[in-house]
Formats: sequence, C-alpha cells, structure tokens
Amino acid sequence: MLIEATQRLVNCIKTDEHLRFILTISEQDHGAKIPEAGVLQLLNLPEQPHKITLKTILLRGEFRIQLSAYTQTQHFTKTLPSDMSCESAVDLVLNEPFRQVHLQSPNGDLYCRNIVGKDTYLSTKSTPPSKKQWESLTHDEQKNYIINPQNSHDLLEALAIIDSKGNIVQNMQAKFKQINHFLSIASSLEILKNPPEVLKVIDCGCGKAYLSFALYHWLTNLRGLTIELLGIDSNQHVISFCTRTARKLGYTSTTFTYGLINSIPQTNELDILIALHACDTATDDALALGIGSNAKAILSAPCCHHYVNERLKPATVPESVRLLLSDGITRERFADMLTDSMRRDILASKGYSAQLMEFISPEHTLKNIMIKAEKNQDVPFADYEQKVREEIETWHVAPKLAELVLG
Ligand SMILES: C[S@@+](CC[C@H](N)C(=O)[O-])C[C@H]1O[C@@H](n2cnc3c(N)ncnc32)[C@H](O)[C@@H]1O
Repeated sequence: MLIEATQRLVNCIKTDEHLRFILTISEQDHGAKIPEAGVLQLLNLPEQPHKITLKTILLRGEFRIQLSAYTQTQHFTKTLPSDMSCESAVDLVLNEPFRQVHLQSPNGDLYCRNIVGKDTYLSTKSTPPSKKQWESLTHDEQKNYIINPQNSHDLLEALAIIDSKGNIVQNMQAKFKQINHFLSIASSLEILKNPPEVLKVIDCGCGKAYLSFALYHWLTNLRGLTIELLGIDSNQHVISFCTRTARKLGYTSTTFTYGLINSIPQTNELDILIALHACDTATDDALALGIGSNAKAILSAPCCHHYVNERLKPATVPESVRLLLSDGITRERFADMLTDSMRRDILASKGYSAQLMEFISPEHTLKNIMIKAEKNQDVPFADYEQKVREEIETWHVAPKLAELVLG
C-alpha cells in the first residue's frame, strides 16, 4: 500500500503551480483485490485493473483530473467532477492495493515502490522530468508566441482557438502552435524585413484561412503594415466562412473568392504566395502562379502527393532505388520526397532560393514539409535548369509544376 507516499506526492504536485501531472499506479499487491467502492465503482469496471492513472487535462479552460483504468482487455476513462480536490483524487487511487507509483510532472518525476519482505519499506527516487511536452499551455508560456490570447483575443476567439475566457480550447492547441510556427517562418522572409507600402498576399486553397488570417492580423494590427489579402478556394462553404469571419473581425483589406487556383490571372505585383496543404497538383498550380506572378516569397506546405507516385515505374527508375518502390508505404514517402525536392529545384531554376523545411511536428501529420522560396537575383538559375533536366531524365517523371512552368 502506498498511503505513506500520499503526502509526498500531493506536496510534489502542489509545488507545480499549474497542477499538471500524470500519476500511474501499478503492480497489484499479490493476491489483493480492488475493493468494490472506489475506482472499481467510479468507472464501473467489469474486471480488476492492472494499472490506474490520474492525469490533468484542460477542459474548456479549466484544469480537471481524468481517471483511467487498464484491465487485461479494455481501457476505461472518466473525468472527475470539478469540485473533487487533487488530494482526494490522489487519495482515491493510492488507497488501491498497488505497490508502485510513478508521478510525472513538468518539475520532475517521482517513483515510489513498496518493497515487501522481512522489513517492508517504501523506496523512492526522483529524476528530471521524463515527459518534455506538456499539452496545456500556461499564460506565461503563451506570451512567448507571436500571437497569443493576450495580444490577439478577438482573432483567436473568432477562429474558435480560445474560449470566451481566453483559454486555448484543448483540441486547438496544435492549431495554435501551427499558426505561430507559420508566423515565425514568415517573419524570417526578406520581404517582411523591408516591406513595401502595400503588401500583396494570395492564399491558394485557403480553406478556413486560419494561417492567413493570423498573418493579416499580425502584420496589420501588431506590426502596423498595410496588407491586401486574397484567399481562393474551390469550396464555397469555406469561402462563406472566411468572408463572414473577415467582416466580423473588421479585416477590410481581405477578399475571399470561390474558384480554382489555376483560374487566377497572373499579376506582376505579388509579394507573398501561400499554399498550405493544397491538394496534390493544386500545389503545382499555386507554385506556377507564384512563379508567373514573380512573387517575392512563396510558402507552401504540399499535401496529397499522388501525381508523381502514380507515374513512377520501377523499370524506369535507377536500379539502386528500386527497392524503395516495392511496398506502398515506402513508395508513397519516396514519391513525396522526390516531388518536393524537384519542386524546390524547379523554383531554383526560376530564380528562387528555395529550401524544404519542417512545418508541423510529425506527431500531427507526416505531411509536414514546407517549401520556403524567395526570389533572389544571385541564384544561378541556368545551372538549376540543367539540374532539373537531368533529374527528369533520371526519374522519367516530374511534378506537374515542370509541365506548367518549363513547357
Ligand atoms: C487541406 S485544405 C487546407 C486548407 C488551408 N490552406 C489550411 O492549411 O488549413 C485544402 C483546401 O484546398 C482547396 N483546394 C483544393 N484544390 C483546389 C484548387 N485546385 N483550387 C482551389 N482550391 C483548392 C480545398 O477546397 C481545401 O479547402
């Protein structure tokens, strides 16, 4: 039994001002049965659990404790009532006949184990935190983000990323981080270091335009620039959403249009072209628009790469890489990487310094590559033209962008 550990654990948890922890108890006492009352009853368990966890979660802006139990065949979870104190939740699980406790918190880990023998005693050990990424974001951490609930309340609320109290909605934490990561990539663009009087931006396949709304807000309201934003999408519902949201937020220099990317006429006055997760060859259409419009910068996170994959043939690729085409999963990833690497080189052949970088953490999606390209007079584009020709000869395949811009 681990009653002795209770006070220490509760003190430990209390020293973490945000009450964030995961407490796991395991190793059932030999032959002991979990009493009917307590966890068994609370979770209505059909059989004895071999492990129980208590974990803090952020639910509609409030820290709550979630109780889970693992039986041989199933996993049961319940969020405890908000008026149940942390102490009583910890007491509840430590009353169960288990011998080992593992507490994880942002401050560190604590292991307690009841050593049963001639002299029964409690062994404890502390270590640095084993879990590095804690889901909930505290107000202090949030202030380090370019846009956060403190400086961008209206925008984040309109996009349902925070609730009316200013707390980040639990399942929008990844979107919040993605937006800020996107802005930090954008902030490194040369065009934003020395912006023109009016910055012209197009978002191709804008969807609900979370990222370009954030860009607009950051540049206009927080940096005082003038920006004209055009979003285009082939889905009328998202265009209606964007138009309503822009009106609600008073983002007057935005236009959202229903249509296909390849229907937008090229212009010679484009500063930034964005294409985030535009499907398959829609990314090529967007890159071609950027190149044709002489965009100063292009930020594109490609998605759903089917085009090259469908055309890759084992018989016509170099023998040394044929093994990668045997299984669907390796073939798909190889085709994705080939597509984006060739897109990068095609951009370089058009005078862009282009690079592939990580956009979103791979834990959220494997489609996490971003193409960042900036018009740069110094790029030896003739060398790249030759390089792209050689690549096409080698692979007997090329992304649709090659057809669109190389002829
Ligand atoms: C996966 S969503 C991404 C939305 C948004 N850019 C984001 O990152 O959240 C892709 C969007 O591209 C749009 N789309 C796909 N092909 C398109 C095309 N050829 N022209 C215009 N929009 C397109 C879809 O309707 C969809 O809204």
